[in-house]
Amino acid sequence: MELLYEGKAKKIYKTDNPNEVICEFKDSLTAFNGEKVDKESGKGELNCEITTLIFQALEKEGIPTHLIKQIDKNKQLVKKVDIIPIEVVVRNIAAGSLCKRLGLKEGEKLKFPIVEFYYKNDELNDPLINDDHAMILNLVDNKKELETLREYGRKVNEFLINFFDKVGLILVDFKIEFGKDKDGNIILADEITPDSCRLWDKKTGKKMDKDLFRFNLGDIKEAYKEVLKRLKDAK
Ligand code: TMP
Ligand code: ASP
Repeated sequence: MELLYEGKAKKIYKTDNPNEVICEFKDSLTAFNGEKVDKESGKGELNCEITTLIFQALEKEGIPTHLIKQIDKNKQLVKKVDIIPIEVVVRNIAAGSLCKRLGLKEGEKLKFPIVEFYYKNDELNDPLINDDHAMILNLVDNKKELETLREYGRKVNEFLINFFDKVGLILVDFKIEFGKDKDGNIILADEITPDSCRLWDKKTGKKMDKDLFRFNLGDIKEAYKEVLKRLKDAK
């Protein structure tokens, strides 16, 4: 297969169809913009399956995604999109960079879910940006597209809060990415996994996401396996 692109967590391969590509989930683990690096064999498969489950559920809710189908344990056939270089972060509970930036205490419930935009740019360390920044950098074509990203972010959040709650997990925050398909439609792309979400166990408060790796708090594979198991059992 011809490799089109390789990122920190995924590889994208060409297919015979110019509108479709194959997305492979890698076993590599990185944090703090690639400063901390490791590998966890089998993580790619877990994240691929988790994303497939969630994207299929979101499609049913009317949120368009790039997923066509899962074709291997760690591979999905997806629509080819031009990724919009904005990371859309939605937060329900204070954690991570929000605590650092605003001095909030980890675990504080926010008055309402907040949506933030980060400029997807490794050299600049993915800075937090506002709408004006996104416009002057031409990250989107118009302000309406930013509104679309925000609305999808909120919708995905509303759905996922409940989706995870049903399996005993608290959705603290998450990051999603969008792309434009061949017709210019904005659709959800990339992944939704414990790499890109903060998930806390409802009963014990234990972290079940990449913070385990970021801060050496425990075995990520066991946690990711447990997340997948709960989602599968609930299906
Ligand atoms: P943050 O608190 O570090 O800004 O992260 C917010 C959420 O976004 C958290 O669920 C982890 C996720 N995230 C990514 O998926 N990729 C990233 O590069 C960063 C910084 C955060
Ligand atoms: N995803 C980023 C990295 O791979 C940062 C993070 O998730 O902490 O470095």
